[in-house]
Amino acid sequence: MIEAAAAAADHIIVVFVPESSRAQANITSMLAPQANRVMVLGEWEERWQENRIGFHQPVVHKMLESNIDKVLAGRTGVRFFFPLCGKAVDMKWLADQGHSVVGVEISEMAVKQFFEENNMTYSEEPVPAIPGAKVFKSSEKNISLYQCDLYNFSSSIGGQFGAIWDRGSLVAINPKDREKYAALIISLMAKDCRYLLDTLLYNPELYPGPPFFVPDAQVQSLFGKSCDIELLQSVDALTDRHRGWGLDFLTENVHLITPKSV
Ligand SMILES: C[S@@+](CC[C@H](N)C(=O)[O-])C[C@H]1O[C@@H](n2cnc3c(N)ncnc32)[C@H](O)[C@@H]1O
Repeated sequence: MIEAAAAAADHIIVVFVPESSRAQANITSMLAPQANRVMVLGEWEERWQENRIGFHQPVVHKMLESNIDKVLAGRTGVRFFFPLCGKAVDMKWLADQGHSVVGVEISEMAVKQFFEENNMTYSEEPVPAIPGAKVFKSSEKNISLYQCDLYNFSSSIGGQFGAIWDRGSLVAINPKDREKYAALIISLMAKDCRYLLDTLLYNPELYPGPPFFVPDAQVQSLFGKSCDIELLQSVDALTDRHRGWGLDFLTENVHLITPKSV
């Protein structure tokens, strides 16, 4: 091909495409089927109102349980952040072990159900820095749940965290917001933060999401500049529920992400 081009032209222009641009182009093409899918916040609230919350698990998530030692790394009394927390029972499980938990969730119904279903009394107060937001605090456990849009939350409101459990969060936000999301999460990580991220791999041509497909290469491009990333676990997660969505495979990956030491 190069010879033919040489014969037909006076000059040959060699275009050097850097590896990083090729990787980015590859990610963009993998994400194309879901790139423009948008869930507005009201749709999440509707799901809560109609009890269409198939993502909620009544028991502690297996991937958190099996990797908790790697997250704690010998530490006690760790501050955990739960982005898009829903009413995950994992929050109580960690608080029962002496850790503190801060969650962010848009649905007030989800927040109230969390406390009520776990038999906890709670207080409720406005968050002056975020118009319309409230923070719900358990009276017995060290759990504070901010009812607001995640993108209105910041380290100036909640401080930084020693650990993050991200299940049903990066995979639930709109795909076009992933860079903004990653920048926010990185800003919430303390120097010793250990961020456990759960992602899903499937054929995005077959199902529109959420949950959305997040390839490992994108985890690398979102967090790899400032963080080290280790793939801790990869399991076949396909169930009849997912077959019903039309999926033919579903892999659940768990990554441990830690800030690079400078
Ligand atoms: C897929 S669910 C996962 C909930 C929880 N992490 C779990 O594993 O059960 C996503 C949750 O995020 C909430 N949510 C979606 N977008 C949000 C946003 N921008 N800010 C705050 N909460 C949001 C939804 O109401 C929903 O409860």
